[in-house]
Amino acid sequence: MKQRIAIFISGRGSNMEAILTQAQHGILADCCEVVLVFANTREAYGLQIAQQFGVPTAVIESKGKKRQVFDQEVLALLEPFQLDYLVLAGYMRILSACVIERYHNRIINIHPADTNAYQGIHGYEWAFEQRLERTIITVHLVDEGVDTGCILAQREVDLRGASTLEEVKERGLRVEHALYSETLRGVFTRTFVI
Ligand code: GAR
Repeated sequence: MKQRIAIFISGRGSNMEAILTQAQHGILADCCEVVLVFANTREAYGLQIAQQFGVPTAVIESKGKKRQVFDQEVLALLEPFQLDYLVLAGYMRILSACVIERYHNRIINIHPADTNAYQGIHGYEWAFEQRLERTIITVHLVDEGVDTGCILAQREVDLRGASTLEEVKERGLRVEHALYSETLRGVFTRTFVI
């Protein structure tokens, strides 16, 4: 049975694009169907990419709305899609308890650092400024904290010799794009029991 998933984005959507590619022709093709791409801003460039893939998109603007009010609207939007999982891919909003409870252990996120070492946004800037020799991409379940949920997979990125922030991001995103789909496959085929 294919898992029905929605991908949540706020911006560029390169992780979303990698997942859509794998869902249409690759390692996710037999285990999931992306039935919705959701964004909290219509400025999210990834919406255009999703449309090119022929995937339905929806936007609810979060700006100026209280978190609870916004998240209740999102839940109402999602309900008819009968989703099995929410896959966050650069979704820059903290989810309130009502969403976490509704999709308990069914919300997955990718983070550009080791969540034990660094939480929040700008993970690559942190690695670059600290001149780290390596950083660790993390895929994790989402709970009510910021980047505190159970870790599903991690993969190291070698940053030695990366002299610009752009290079750090490029190396990291290459790993993100591979690791996310591989981990999702493990979850959707129950190789990981969560
Ligand atoms: C990715 O690097 C992702 O790991 C990060 O946002 C970027 C989104 O890029 N997420 C976080 O920092 C979450 N704390 P994308 O829109 O091209 O996938």
